[in-house]
Amino acid sequence: MSRSLDEILESCRDCRNCELGNTRTNLVFGTGNPQADLMFVGEAPGEQEDLTGVPFVGRAGQLLDRYLYAVGIDRESVYIANILKCRPPKNRDPLPEEEDACIGILREQVKAIQPKIIVCLGRISAMRLIKPDFKITAEHGKWFRKGDFWMTAVYHPAALLRDPRKKEDMLEDMKAIRKKLSEGQEPSVV
Ligand code: URA
Repeated sequence: MSRSLDEILESCRDCRNCELGNTRTNLVFGTGNPQADLMFVGEAPGEQEDLTGVPFVGRAGQLLDRYLYAVGIDRESVYIANILKCRPPKNRDPLPEEEDACIGILREQVKAIQPKIIVCLGRISAMRLIKPDFKITAEHGKWFRKGDFWMTAVYHPAALLRDPRKKEDMLEDMKAIRKKLSEGQEPSVV
């Protein structure tokens, strides 16, 4: 029996399983539709996320919103979370021991939501969730069947802010995600 998202949140609200529990402002659990078919998983909260407790609300998040809008996906219909629930100081990369301490929460979230598609936002998430040697430049947009769901990775929106040349690939990958999502839908009965 999987726990509900509310129960999972309740159990980790005061988490001190790693050092980041002592430096965070807010734990950033995740947000969106608890029955989403599509789930996005980023790396770790940044400054704005730490301040608000909501994932992907800073500049990178606003760019993600634009891609969702561009391909006709409603942000309210998806679920968005991160590998780490607490912000690493100065947005450094997560440490392996921080990921290990935190990954159980994400696993439980996935069990509760049972999405059809999980999209890794960026290299760190893809290396953790798809395969340790994932190469984001070569393998973004590829599909991997894992258990009951499909997985893929796209560039992290922050990488697009640093290198706008990646934006074309991002749009193509997001269109393919939109297509895969509708392939999974049963035709509605009229
Ligand atoms: N970057 C991430 O990986 N996650 C967020 O929530 C914000 C920025």
